[in-house]
Amino acid sequence: MKQQIMKVNVSDLTWDPFIYPRGARSQKTITAYGEAFAVGAIFPPIMIQRVFNYPGIETLVTIVVDGIHRWSTFQENGIKEICAVEFKDTPLDYEENKTMLLLESAQCNTSHGDRLSSNDKKRVARDIASTDPECNYTEDALAQKLGVTRQTINTWISDIRARQKTNRNSIIIRLSRLGWTQEKIAQITEMTQGRVAQIINNANLCEINNLLTQGRNMEYIAAHYQMDLALTWAIRLQGKTDQEKFKELGWGLRTWDQWNFNECDERFGDDWPGRIPAQLIAHTLYYFTKPNDLVLDPMAGGGVVPDTCLLFERKCQAFDLAAQDKQGKRPEIEYHHWDPKTETWPVTKKPDLIFFDPPYYTKKKKEYEQKTNKDTSSISSYTKKDYKQFFKNFFTLAHKNAKPSTTLAFLNADWRDFESTPAAEEKSDKAITIFDYHSLLSETGWKTIFRIECPLSSERLTGNQVQKMQDKRILGTIGRTLLIAKIK
Ligand SMILES: C[S@@+](CC[C@H](N)C(=O)[O-])C[C@H]1O[C@@H](n2cnc3c(N)ncnc32)[C@H](O)[C@@H]1O
Repeated sequence: MKQQIMKVNVSDLTWDPFIYPRGARSQKTITAYGEAFAVGAIFPPIMIQRVFNYPGIETLVTIVVDGIHRWSTFQENGIKEICAVEFKDTPLDYEENKTMLLLESAQCNTSHGDRLSSNDKKRVARDIASTDPECNYTEDALAQKLGVTRQTINTWISDIRARQKTNRNSIIIRLSRLGWTQEKIAQITEMTQGRVAQIINNANLCEINNLLTQGRNMEYIAAHYQMDLALTWAIRLQGKTDQEKFKELGWGLRTWDQWNFNECDERFGDDWPGRIPAQLIAHTLYYFTKPNDLVLDPMAGGGVVPDTCLLFERKCQAFDLAAQDKQGKRPEIEYHHWDPKTETWPVTKKPDLIFFDPPYYTKKKKEYEQKTNKDTSSISSYTKKDYKQFFKNFFTLAHKNAKPSTTLAFLNADWRDFESTPAAEEKSDKAITIFDYHSLLSETGWKTIFRIECPLSSERLTGNQVQKMQDKRILGTIGRTLLIAKIK
């Protein structure tokens, strides 16, 4: 059937970061399209889809499936209408169909326009694998759609597939190692406490070293024992010293208070907006905790803190409002909406370390909204005043529930309104900086004892974007700081 071309209002369309991440948009392409448009070039219609059940919005939403650069060009040039075709002519349930839409968008992009880079394809493959625990999309099917070999798909997603094949026993062992009581494990796995005890006591911890000497890699071994990769590594490293663990994981131990890690280590934690490197957590554990200490992660996201605690034999309690436990994938992250006004503190024991990595003000606001399916909102959608008040309340609550030796590790970055503003014209009252967090900590009874710089990579910007910033004297920020505080 021939698709019908229609005109739609540019401003009625929605950019969906799951289907097309902001980082993948190329300013160079938009500028080139703008120039072509100015001399009369005609563009093919973009592809759109009406959806319902879109996170946070009750009415129908029309999302762009293909043609984000053409749409952005029209937006930037103030053109009100754009030609479009519908992918399906009836509205679709967003939650049920978002994987299909992502794949359709990726497939369109492999064949025309600003072709997807290898990194984009990897992200699509990993997003699809993560939302498809039943493995409906085989490696062959993904390879065909994304125009790469099956082997490439395999290297991109094998860790996710290994985790999805994780069996129930390994979930029980994971929770037990993180410090969960047998009673609590029995509750969430719907098993009897006796059966849980049996599994923990009889855990015949596999012969990882034998398989390693046979030349098998850790992904193979994890799949072989139906365990997730982090647990497999934890078992391999069990009983070694922290320093030996750093060495075996291939992580250089930083001696100074500048922790530069360009990439997240994909073996640990899930893909998650604002995901942080496991190495950063490992260093915090190394310097500020000892084996068996209890770590609290109040906003755990993709679970990289519990994974690192497993590796370094620390206990961990983790919470997030975006419950990840849907497919029993990460039962160690419990649902909790921090609303310090209610003063609820769901932690069972006083923690030795609180590792707190909240959203950096409004950064990734949309992505966090999409991750939550409850009516509660991420603090990234708060006003500046409420956001600051949240921390004041949270730090007070944490102080009340800590012990004298508890360490608070707080990660955040300066938020400045720099995107289109020359440095000299920035309004400081719009910004929230590390100095603000430092003051809030101080006001609530915490004393900052270390300031560790953990900068983000600057490579996420294209040469063109950097040039534009320089021309306009915009001063970017890649700083990210870990404040270490103790009770005064
Ligand atoms: C920066 S992310 C954490 C990323 C995580 N450290 C990782 O590497 O995957 C911040 C998290 O805070 C959660 N969050 C935001 N507001 C919250 C609230 N009021 N209560 C609980 N979680 C919240 C978001 O869902 C998000 O997953």
